[in-house]
Amino acid sequence: MKEKLESIREQAIKKIDEATEMGALNDVKVSVLGKKGELTAVLKGMKDVAIEDRPKVGALVNETREAIEKYLNDAKDKLEEEEMEHRLQNETIDVTLPAKKVREGHRHPNTKVLDEVEKIFVGMGYEVVEGPEVEYDYYNFEALNIPPNHPAKDEQDTFYINKDILLRTQTSPVQVHEMEKGKLPIRMIAPGRVFRSDEVDATHSPSFHQIEGMVIDKDITFADLKGTLEEFAKQLFGDDVKVKFRPHHFPFTEPSAEVDVSCFKCGGKGCRFCKGEGWIEILGCGMVHPKVLKMSGIDPDEYQGFAFGVGLERITLLKYEIDDMRLLYENDSRFLDQF
Ligand code: DAH
Repeated sequence: MKEKLESIREQAIKKIDEATEMGALNDVKVSVLGKKGELTAVLKGMKDVAIEDRPKVGALVNETREAIEKYLNDAKDKLEEEEMEHRLQNETIDVTLPAKKVREGHRHPNTKVLDEVEKIFVGMGYEVVEGPEVEYDYYNFEALNIPPNHPAKDEQDTFYINKDILLRTQTSPVQVHEMEKGKLPIRMIAPGRVFRSDEVDATHSPSFHQIEGMVIDKDITFADLKGTLEEFAKQLFGDDVKVKFRPHHFPFTEPSAEVDVSCFKCGGKGCRFCKGEGWIEILGCGMVHPKVLKMSGIDPDEYQGFAFGVGLERITLLKYEIDDMRLLYENDSRFLDQF
């Protein structure tokens, strides 16, 4: 028995010495000291040992177990130490190295201008709403008094999903969605992306942004429209800016106008920036057409309103004096970092 225990101990120590990782040490522990281990088997065989020898053999087994356990634990400690040493060496941080520069981003010029526009209108009591980019032909055209044979509906101008569904060409359909909700009065702006099948150049892109505006209430007149847009232009471009309303045509407003602001670069004298005109066009607007009100369930005898549509890119280019719209979409940080 003594030799057997001696041999178990020697074998265990040999295996422990050979082990180079924790898993191997655990295997030794299981195979020797575990429930089905060799040493446990010896204990189970005690019944075959003569009664008078049992205390001695028992003591011997315990001694062997303790010796192996101690050896095993020492080996574990050593291995842990080695592993730690290894990690400390591999994960050394050289605190004297120069730090990596954190590149801090900022909002896109379009987003900055949109935030500013939203602030101006929210300050005048407007709500900011949104409408879908994929729109029914009805909302984009028909409900805005644009007849089926209108050239704006041509495939050359518009991206169709099918006969009835398209990518909206303007944010004006949001007017219709808001009117259909039936909650009056309305005082809203609706910023968003619009689409037209245009070739990319310095002033065109197949996808750009507009900010729609609409007010519907009792006793709304063109004077309200003028005052509102003048206030908007002054807050956005500065107090010295003059505003001019030029008669124009939009199917969904009557009367309609385009709004120019005096060139804030030359003060209206005429320069390269305003192409010698002294004025710069910034938006389209008008009094909501009675037919448009009626189609969306509003009685034009009781309610009137005005609407306007601003090209976001257009005013961003003006505000930051950028001469090519493509720059806004190219994501070139050398350009964007300037704003
Ligand atoms: N939707 C027009 C466009 O894309 C812009 C516009 C003009 C909007 C007059 C309006 C408006 O609300 O009253 O050209």
